[in-house]
Amino acid sequence: MPVISVPYAFNEEELYVDLRSIFGHSLYLKCEGFNFAGSIKLKAATEMVETAERDGVLTPKSILVESSSGNLGVALSMIAASKGYQFLCVTDARGNLSTRLMMEALGSQVHVIADQEANGGFLGARIEYIRALCASDDRYVWLSQYTNPSNWKAHYRTTAPEIARQFPRLDVLFVGAGTTGTLMGCARYFREWHRPVRIIAVDSVGSVSFGGPPGRRMIPGLGMSMRPPLLDETYVDEVIRVEEADTIRTCHRLARRGFLLGGSTGTVVSGASDWLARHDARELTAVAIGPDLGERYLDTIYHTNWLEDIYGKDVLNSREVHAGSWDSDAPVARWRRRLDLQTGDLNGDQHHQLQDRKT
Ligand SMILES: Cc1ncc(COP(=O)(O)O)c(C=O)c1O
Repeated sequence: MPVISVPYAFNEEELYVDLRSIFGHSLYLKCEGFNFAGSIKLKAATEMVETAERDGVLTPKSILVESSSGNLGVALSMIAASKGYQFLCVTDARGNLSTRLMMEALGSQVHVIADQEANGGFLGARIEYIRALCASDDRYVWLSQYTNPSNWKAHYRTTAPEIARQFPRLDVLFVGAGTTGTLMGCARYFREWHRPVRIIAVDSVGSVSFGGPPGRRMIPGLGMSMRPPLLDETYVDEVIRVEEADTIRTCHRLARRGFLLGGSTGTVVSGASDWLARHDARELTAVAIGPDLGERYLDTIYHTNWLEDIYGKDVLNSREVHAGSWDSDAPVARWRRRLDLQTGDLNGDQHHQLQDRKT
């Protein structure tokens, strides 16, 4: 019976879903959403905070600041609340509303970057904002998940050995790539293991992490609009890129079997099941990592209006996506206006709060 007194002390390490009955191939999905932060990012957040404390970078007077599309922000909000730190999360308009509200419920401040860059991403603007903040006040401590080695070390210490313990004959591991912390931690661990494991990175179309043209991406978690500084491709055997429409169809297919899972899990499972279908995989032991659960995507991936506005009416029925809907940003803008009407202009308020504090 686990009994805890701080929220980051619990994480379900041993839960796998066998997806054979849904996709027709044996694929074990490691479910990382069962902890109080609701995602795999609990591991990176804990490791980065505890390392900064040990190094004396983080003190009781510090204000944590981080750029996150959501899940790391929630994990840091939870840890900051538990340990008594202030935390400011810099996110962007692609993040989920519920994630934003969760961070605020945990006592954090959220700043939303609204202006998209020419490359279709928000990351440069998020980082620029944090740099300016840190330059303005030395109480700010930026953990910098994109460059912090504790990010990948968390998975080298936890996620990879958890998998190795349960699958001593593992052949293939599918890992989604965001900051590439999970990917690099697992890849480094299995490079040193007693047998070769094929490490397959799963990215979304439109991400430039492994090269390729930038494009619009609406599902947070995977993909980057710059090359991930933590990435060392010599550890990666293969890269699979998944269209968002395929991610969505996979998420809904899983949900219709009772597994309500997050967007990046849909991406990884979609890429993995296509790969397994293309290879003679009957004898292979394959594991995929599922970073979070589906509740935080109820107003996006699992919301009919959002789906139709962004991907077109038939996204769930066909393998084709209407090019017009896909290319145009108008539906996205329409959807954002609708969300703003529902929630009030949180972005504006928070921006002013921050400006007030800086002056
Ligand atoms: C839902 C989700 N999936 C996948 C990832 C990617 O993990 P990593 O940053 O370790 O590459 C993230 C990271 O924020 C995430 O929130």
